[in-house]
Amino acid sequence: MRFVSFAGILLLASYAAAQPPHLDVPYVPSPNAVVDGMLKLDKVSKSDVVYDLGCGDGRIVISAAKEYGAKGVGIDINPDRVREARANAKSAGVDDRVRFEENDLFKADIKAATVVTLYLLPDVNMRLRPKLLQDLKPGTRVVSHSFDMEDWKPEGEASIDGRHIYLWTVPARK
Ligand SMILES: C[S@@+](CC[C@H](N)C(=O)[O-])C[C@H]1O[C@@H](n2cnc3c(N)ncnc32)[C@H](O)[C@@H]1O
Repeated sequence: MRFVSFAGILLLASYAAAQPPHLDVPYVPSPNAVVDGMLKLDKVSKSDVVYDLGCGDGRIVISAAKEYGAKGVGIDINPDRVREARANAKSAGVDDRVRFEENDLFKADIKAATVVTLYLLPDVNMRLRPKLLQDLKPGTRVVSHSFDMEDWKPEGEASIDGRHIYLWTVPARK
């Protein structure tokens, strides 16, 4: 470290800042029909606060706000997605009911959610499961596009255009 100059440290810091964030899941948006199906399966209403973990362009929380009057929070680690989601919320006229946060979904504060939506990957669902069960209030609904939670059996399922979706409710803590 003694041999690293101040200019070297600045160079390393600017290189690190320019690196794209590590994505646990690549960006693939849910088709609109699947978004509608997810919001119907978890019976979203205007009293809900919908969190989409890995929100992409914000379509799930924007649709929850626009179609059902819910509040929404989208979390994405990619600043480009967050910028896009904010612009989309503004165009949809729901930017007073939704907000987007640039954050790692494993670190985000999700306690205020009454509904959580996911379109991640099987191993990411399983890594996230302990956080869902620990941080979310009992009664919070969780809906996942495409991927289940292994031995946490879903209480609802649907198939839309060949895509499977799953619904769970966070149980009371033991
Ligand atoms: C498959 S896309 C789903 C987008 C959106 N939820 C939908 O269904 O249309 C996954 C999203 O997760 C984001 N992502 C990946 N790893 C993440 C992490 N650790 N924390 C937060 N977001 C992440 C990606 O940037 C991407 O936008």
